[in-house]
Amino acid sequence: KVQKIFEESKEIPEDKKLFKLNGILYPNSLCSQETFQALESFEARENDLFLVSYPKCGTNWSLNLLNDTVKKVYNKEPANIIPIIEFGAPGKFEKLKEDSSPRVFGTHLHYNDIPQTFFDKKVKMLVVFRNPKDTAVSYFHFYNNNPMLPNYSSWDTFFQDFISGNVCWGSYFDHALAWNEHIDDETVLIVTFEEMKEDLKAAVKKISEFFGICITEEQICEVAQKGTFTAMKEKLKETRKEFAQIFLRKGEVGDWKNHFSEAQSKEIDAKFEACLAGTKLGEVLKY
Ligand code: A3P
Repeated sequence: KVQKIFEESKEIPEDKKLFKLNGILYPNSLCSQETFQALESFEARENDLFLVSYPKCGTNWSLNLLNDTVKKVYNKEPANIIPIIEFGAPGKFEKLKEDSSPRVFGTHLHYNDIPQTFFDKKVKMLVVFRNPKDTAVSYFHFYNNNPMLPNYSSWDTFFQDFISGNVCWGSYFDHALAWNEHIDDETVLIVTFEEMKEDLKAAVKKISEFFGICITEEQICEVAQKGTFTAMKEKLKETRKEFAQIFLRKGEVGDWKNHFSEAQSKEIDAKFEACLAGTKLGEVLKY
C-alpha cells in the first residue's frame, strides 16, 4: 500500500496553506489528513448518485441538478453535509451512513484516488468536464475570490501553474487522460458544462436516465428551470449572499477570450493536442 505523505507548502501564507498528498495539492482550509483517512473506510452504496468533477467544471451546478431531481422524484431533502467527500471534518461520514438512499455527493479527486468502495459497489459516476480554457479562468477567479485559497498576483502566474498542474487537485489534463480510459465504462457518464449550457433539459433527462431515475417531462422542466444560472444565483443570494459571487461568477462559455493572450491560447491548445488529440474524451471536449 502506498504510504501517504503530507507536506506543508512553505511559500503560502499561514491562513491559506496547502498540503500535498501523493504529489497533489489540497487546501488545508477545505481538506484534512483525518478526512482522507476516514475516507478509506467509507462505504459506498450501489445506488449512490456520485458526481466527479475537476474543480470549476460545474460541480455545484450538477450537484444542484441531482439534489433537485431527488427532491422532486423521491421527495427527499439533501443530507446536511458538505457534498464533496474530501471536504470538511470526518464526522460527516457518520451522517452519510444514516442518510437514506439515494444519497447525492461528489468528489474532485483524481480517478486513481477515488476510494475503492465506489468501484467495488459499481457505483455510477456522473463525470462533469468543461473546456480547459474556461476552467482555467474560472479557477483563477476562484483562487482570488475565495478567502480559503491563496491569491495569485497575476493571471499569467496562475496560467503557468494551471498548465503544469501545480494547482489544488492537480492537473486538469491528468484528470482528463485518466477519464479517457474509462469513457466507455457502463458506470460512467461524461457530461460537459457546454452541453448543460446548450440544453439543460436534455442534460437533466440524460443524467436521470443514466442513474435509472424515472422522471416526468414536467419534473425535468422544473429541475432545469431551477438550475439556470440566474435562478441559482437568486436563491444563493437569499441564503448565503457572500457565496453567490464566489461560486456563481459568470456562468458563461468563452470567457477565456477576455483573459488569454494569443501565446497562452496556443500553449494550452498545444497541451490539449499533446494529451488528448485523437482520444474519445478529446473529441467530447473539443472547443
Ligand atoms: P465561472 O467562474 O466561469 O462563472 P464549480 O461548481 O465546479 O466550482 O464550477 C463553478 C463554475 O460553474 C463557475 O464558472 C460558475 O459560475 C459556473 N456555474 C455554476 N452554476 C451554473 C449555472 N447554473 N449555469 C452556468 N454556470 C454555472
